[in-house]
Amino acid sequence: MTKRIMLDMSATLIHHGHIRLMKKASEYGKVIIGLTMDEEIFKKKGYQPELSFEYRKEVLEAIKYVDEVVATPWLLDDNVLKKYNIDLLVHGDDNSNIIKKEKLLIFPRTQGISSKDIRENAFKAIAEKKSRKILLNPGPATTTYGVKMSQVVDDICPREKKFGDLMEFVSKELTKIVANLDEYTTILFGGSGTAVVEAVLSSVVPRDKKILIINNGAYGKRMCQIASAYDMDQIEFKSSSIAPIDLKKLEETIKNYTDISHLALVHNETTTGLLNNLDDLGKMAKLYNLELIIDAMSSYAAIPIDMKKQNISYLMASSNKNIQGMAGVAFVVAKKEKLENLKSIKPRNFYLDLYSQYKNFENTHQMRFTPPVQTLYALKQAINEIKREGVENRYKRYSKSWEALTKELKKMGLKYLVDDKFHSKIITSIFIPNGVDFNNMHDYLYEKGFTIYPGKVDEFNTFRIANIGDIDYKDMEDFLKIFKEYLKNI
Ligand SMILES: Cc1ncc(COP(=O)(O)O)c(C=O)c1O
Repeated sequence: MTKRIMLDMSATLIHHGHIRLMKKASEYGKVIIGLTMDEEIFKKKGYQPELSFEYRKEVLEAIKYVDEVVATPWLLDDNVLKKYNIDLLVHGDDNSNIIKKEKLLIFPRTQGISSKDIRENAFKAIAEKKSRKILLNPGPATTTYGVKMSQVVDDICPREKKFGDLMEFVSKELTKIVANLDEYTTILFGGSGTAVVEAVLSSVVPRDKKILIINNGAYGKRMCQIASAYDMDQIEFKSSSIAPIDLKKLEETIKNYTDISHLALVHNETTTGLLNNLDDLGKMAKLYNLELIIDAMSSYAAIPIDMKKQNISYLMASSNKNIQGMAGVAFVVAKKEKLENLKSIKPRNFYLDLYSQYKNFENTHQMRFTPPVQTLYALKQAINEIKREGVENRYKRYSKSWEALTKELKKMGLKYLVDDKFHSKIITSIFIPNGVDFNNMHDYLYEKGFTIYPGKVDEFNTFRIANIGDIDYKDMEDFLKIFKEYLKNI
């Protein structure tokens, strides 16, 4: 007598894995599909199936391997098999039905396909298409789908241990990008990059000591402004915004004082793309026993940095540039030995006091004040993504986009501020062509999905193109096509 074989499934989204299973089952006898009822799917999975029971049944009945379709609960037992006179239940190797062993026939699942995969891929395709904008501003940068989606999490009180563990992971992994965990640690703050520049400057310089700040762009200047706001004893060392620092002149300045304790500068001046040489400045700091403070906001996680080798005591960066996370977390990677010494310095600031934030995190794995919860989840995802890509590969990817950009600019006869020899290959400050209005150009490009950025150097009429974030040289080529189209039409 022909056997009656039951195959149980939800068949919400039919795929070739289902068909293969049906075909195999049909070799054993008549195929009766035990189709999970709508309310059972809702109870188990928490959503209504895309197609209701009657439509799923209609689809299944049209398949040549299927003889009957009956309504079944989520879990089958021997009573269900008895009711429909079933000889054998065929199931994939994820069976959880509680039935007698001799009635069960297990087939391996088809690899690489499931209704869940189809559902997630469809959602991902829509979300990516909808949300992918090419940000050519120097951060917040274009983020991956994974980073965007990682923010959709269960509500959690950030004081829970689970969240403390997440922040500890983030802190350690951020340290590992530029230093070793034995001697260095990372202190997290909620806020934008400027928050940590202010935290470091206001926390680390003793009142009877001076800080020498190199100003060769808007962010160097900002450090001077912060030091002024706290009435700190600062020496501003002005340097060209487009050429390397004159080390001899810098050394002479240092020698003029006996009470400088700190040297501060920006690694990649985001205003121009001028890359200051950390090897040289690290040596200088060591020679004169200065603690080196580096604003690495737009270089960290792209341009390799070795804090120990380069004698850096404090390094500041944020979550939304080359690390490719969301805006809202800023951090300081610091030498623990230096942090311990801060105990004797009376804080100039309450919220941004570096020593208090450090000690509190060490003791509790918590920030002192409410952290940006979802941004931290996104940062964890961004860290996992950079671990997969590697900092060096990320910089190679960025550099390739930069090369695509500058090669074309040269062909077009457009000039940019900083010579290739001293360039960070992260952001380029380009002279605005004659007759072009920045806002008009911005709006045209923005409409087409590309965001460009205004210049920030007073003496030159420029705009900026950054090549960071989840973009590559093909995006840059697409941008250049539209950019040329714009210039042709003005
Ligand atoms: C070098 C540098 N420092 C500091 C900042 C300030 O960061 P935020 O705007 O996040 O406060 C930026 C921002 O672009 C930067 O590029």
